Amino acid sequence: MGSKNGNRKEVTFVIFRGDKGRGEFKEYRVPYQEGMVVLDAILWIQGNLEGDLAVRWNCKAAKCGSCAAEVNGKPSLMCKTRVDELKEPIKVEPMKAYPHIKDIVADTSWNMRTRRKIITKVGFRPSLKSTFLMKEEDVERGREFRKCIECGLCIDVCHVLREHQLFDKFIGPAYLVFSAYLETHPEDTINRIAWLKEEGGLMYCNITKCCTEVCPEEIHITDNAIIPLKERLADEYFDPIKMLFRKILNK
Ligand code: SF4
Ligand code: SF4
Ligand code: FES
Repeated sequence: MGSKNGNRKEVTFVIFRGDKGRGEFKEYRVPYQEGMVVLDAILWIQGNLEGDLAVRWNCKAAKCGSCAAEVNGKPSLMCKTRVDELKEPIKVEPMKAYPHIKDIVADTSWNMRTRRKIITKVGFRPSLKSTFLMKEEDVERGREFRKCIECGLCIDVCHVLREHQLFDKFIGPAYLVFSAYLETHPEDTINRIAWLKEEGGLMYCNITKCCTEVCPEEIHITDNAIIPLKERLADEYFDPIKMLFRKILNK
């Protein structure tokens, strides 16, 4: 149909069915309702046609990050993606950077492992003299980064992870955002730049900005999180005087 008006009675979906990367697309026709989002259609199919259709969701309010999938080839939150703004047939498939579990569900457990690794290795550590009082401007500095819902959409488009699968070498855009948040905390005492270079793979990012384009929270991932981290890395590692000192100290 390809129309973008709301006069339709039914909408055609093609949905990936299968597990562990094996399977095929199957077509479904779903009754259209005003204001419908992709997740509504998926749940209708599950409730009326295919009881075993695997789907992960929770809040239906674009806040938990669970319903991330690829819709018409674009990484999207299904509960935020309106059907009347899409061309038919609407294609829904799992995020491809991650391992596949079943149907449109990908295994995003790497996200939790990566967050845990950062917290364990270079998490927030306040000064011993900390008063735990924050000024309003300090609260503001990290606010943008705290909006991250860890949906994984930015990870799904990042070529370092999607094409090259460097999940063991690069913490990816979402966790660079998390690192930037830790860096902006006024009481933070940790210098995590060396860790981000050696273990976090910061150098793998070549600022293509694809991650920023898909972020549902509109976080300026590259401009506000990654580029300042890279600037700090350049200051620490490529400043000629610091390089000389490191050479003398053999570090
Ligand atoms: S940075 Fe944006 S796209 Fe990436 S995980 Fe967080 S909310 Fe999702
Ligand atoms: S800007 Fe960096 S982190 Fe973002 S998609 Fe490109 S390579 Fe990946
Ligand atoms: S169901 Fe929570 S973000 Fe979509």
